[in-house]
Amino acid sequence: MKSQSIIEIKNLFYRYEKDTVLENINLSIPIGSFLAIVGPNGSGKSTLLKLILGLLKPQKGVIRLFGQEMSKFKNWQQIGYVSQKANSFNTGFPATVFEVVSSGLTKKLGLFRFFKKEHIEKVNEALDAVGMMKFSNRNIGELSGGQQQRVFIARALVSEPKLLILDEPTVGVDVENVNSFYHMLADLNKKRGITLLLVTHDIGTISDKVTHVACLNKHLHFHGETSEFEQHRSEGMSEFYGTDVHLLSHHHDHGGVF
Ligand SMILES: Nc1ncnc2c1ncn2[C@@H]1O[C@H](COP(=O)(O)OP(=O)(O)O)[C@@H](O)[C@H]1O
Ligand SMILES: [Mg+2]
Repeated sequence: MKSQSIIEIKNLFYRYEKDTVLENINLSIPIGSFLAIVGPNGSGKSTLLKLILGLLKPQKGVIRLFGQEMSKFKNWQQIGYVSQKANSFNTGFPATVFEVVSSGLTKKLGLFRFFKKEHIEKVNEALDAVGMMKFSNRNIGELSGGQQQRVFIARALVSEPKLLILDEPTVGVDVENVNSFYHMLADLNKKRGITLLLVTHDIGTISDKVTHVACLNKHLHFHGETSEFEQHRSEGMSEFYGTDVHLLSHHHDHGGVF
């Protein structure tokens, strides 16, 4: 067993109805790494994350989390997740930043009210980690997209996960704030030792911060260290996604493999 891998995926296949979305995925994610998963729209990135989170069941293949097969894995509080839709928040929603982050803790601990001081400390620490302490009493709906996204990350961090999974977190972030947003993520990885798994389109912006890159388009076309990725990149992105990249929106072309 490779105890150094926080996630290990072997021979994974997934299809919705009859459309195969992921084919023979093999991926090993080292503890402490910062992995960017890139790929065109519809290439199966979100599906892969949902499989890792146990929200979908693969038709074929094995996923190990922290060295344990998924069916035996119990420590879900060790994994934080911020979904693609997290920041589509109703602006009128009557909750403060503090309350939103707290909700990440109540879900996990339930009895938090008996540990009030500890609870407040944990929330403050999570807010500090994403640079949002001074917004603690603000209404969530008053914040910018990027600030809201930081709050949702704090909500995921409050139960002190070892692995944080983020699906296109910068979609609602203003262009001028994307860099500092990624800088904050890199700090979570480097200073707090949290393993990060990030789905992103901004590979140009992020490549100096991630340790590994995976290029997905139904198949895993590339997976390796960032330096190796950069070396290949000068030869053109298209090779990372194989030749069928333009056919993907029409799909059906790889159906019926099972
Ligand atoms: N619930 C679903 N039912 C059927 N097809 C789906 C469902 N969710 C996603 N798909 C399809 O699976 C493919 C991969 O989707 P997704 O994993 O969301 O891609 P990405 O996140 O890379 O944009 C797309 O063709 C999408 O339309
Ligand atoms: Mg997606």
